[in-house]
Amino acid sequence: MTTPAETSFPKSQIRVLLLENVHTSAHEVFRAEGFQVEACTGALGEDALVEKARDVHILGIRSRSRVTERVLSQARRVLTLGTFCIGTNQVALESASQRGVPVFNAPFSSTRSVAELVIAEVIALSRRLADRSREMHEGRWRKSAPAAHEVRGKTLGIVGYGHIGTQVGILAEAVGMQVLFHDVVPKLPIGNNRRAESLEDVLGRADFVTLHVPETPLTRGLIGERELARMRPGAYLLNLSRGSVVDLGALAKALGSGHLAGAAADVFPVEPAGNSDGFATELRGVPNVILTPHVGGSTEEAQEAIGREVATALVKFVNTGATTGSVNFPHIEPPPLVDRHRLLNVHRNVPGVLSSINKIVSDAQANVESQILATNPAIGYLVMDLNREVSEEVRLQMSALETNIRTRVLY
Ligand code: NAI
Repeated sequence: MTTPAETSFPKSQIRVLLLENVHTSAHEVFRAEGFQVEACTGALGEDALVEKARDVHILGIRSRSRVTERVLSQARRVLTLGTFCIGTNQVALESASQRGVPVFNAPFSSTRSVAELVIAEVIALSRRLADRSREMHEGRWRKSAPAAHEVRGKTLGIVGYGHIGTQVGILAEAVGMQVLFHDVVPKLPIGNNRRAESLEDVLGRADFVTLHVPETPLTRGLIGERELARMRPGAYLLNLSRGSVVDLGALAKALGSGHLAGAAADVFPVEPAGNSDGFATELRGVPNVILTPHVGGSTEEAQEAIGREVATALVKFVNTGATTGSVNFPHIEPPPLVDRHRLLNVHRNVPGVLSSINKIVSDAQANVESQILATNPAIGYLVMDLNREVSEEVRLQMSALETNIRTRVLY
């Protein structure tokens, strides 16, 4: 007689492939689980990735690898995929969900890093620090107080009051600023932050306007000539969100005419692919403009947190089926699995699918302890805890359904 396995799949045989120098904090999370980790420093082209990903169970990338439909179609063992950054547009997300592969990212590990840089830049702009520092490097001593100001008592306008916007609001109050925000969805104001009537309201009342919106069709060109003209004379604009949000030509004009007193840009409509490429922008050489190469979230703390956050989500999915936070899957946070087998079923979300599944369960006389279903328009995700005697039979029958995408047993 064979002894039943302790876990549905030996942890030591779970293979993780991490590309693009994912932080070692992620390796530690996977190794603590007993998984095998292979790490590569760079991104891989499509052919190389197809080869490398063929036998892995967990694939981790950052922003430069492209996980295409072809890569996914060949990576038949991949259970889940992690982008160790915020963006996920480098992954064929729809194809991943159609294959039952949830994708996880790191939506807030770099939030605080961005927020701190915003506050640093608000103060730096207010004191014209970039210009003073450049002059000193050029051997010029220009001690002067005019046009240098404290930020205490000034108004900071935040456009996009999400993860980063709210953190900026907290830090700004700590240095004595008044905070006014605008968001397209109603948001609870943090501390003494106040909600503005509209974007125009923020533009007309703030001494500093900082943008923290995502890139969407609505935010493309959100700040152009008209909006800049509405800003207060002598105000400052900061963009650490996405390059497409601001019309840089219009911003350069508003700075050149003296309508705005300064600006900070960390993101640009077109950014170089690598550090050895050149860079051009309308803002080069404009006084009191701080230019940074998309480093808002680039701190060691953020990289470490991203490694841990994404790896933890991937491990949790593999061990429990939890999809909370996934960007392409319905969210389920199942309870701990005790003394049961758990079926994880991903199916096409079409009429009648549940009755077929329920018939299989009922015919098998399964003793179902809990059943959680979440759906999106394309797929349904069902997590069912049931008695161990019938789990394999139920899995086989569910896998044979025409609507089945993937069915796995966990114990
Ligand atoms: P989030 O999703 O938590 O917040 C975005 C907020 O903007 C949401 O509250 C949303 O309702 C609001 N919003 C959407 N459209 C809007 C509109 N038209 N007008 C006003 N509000 C609108 O995002 P999070 O994490 O705060 O990130 C914000 C931006 O920062 C993103 O574009 C992200 O890509 C960027 N980012 C930049 C980094 C850098 O290195 N510079 C690092 C991390 C994020």
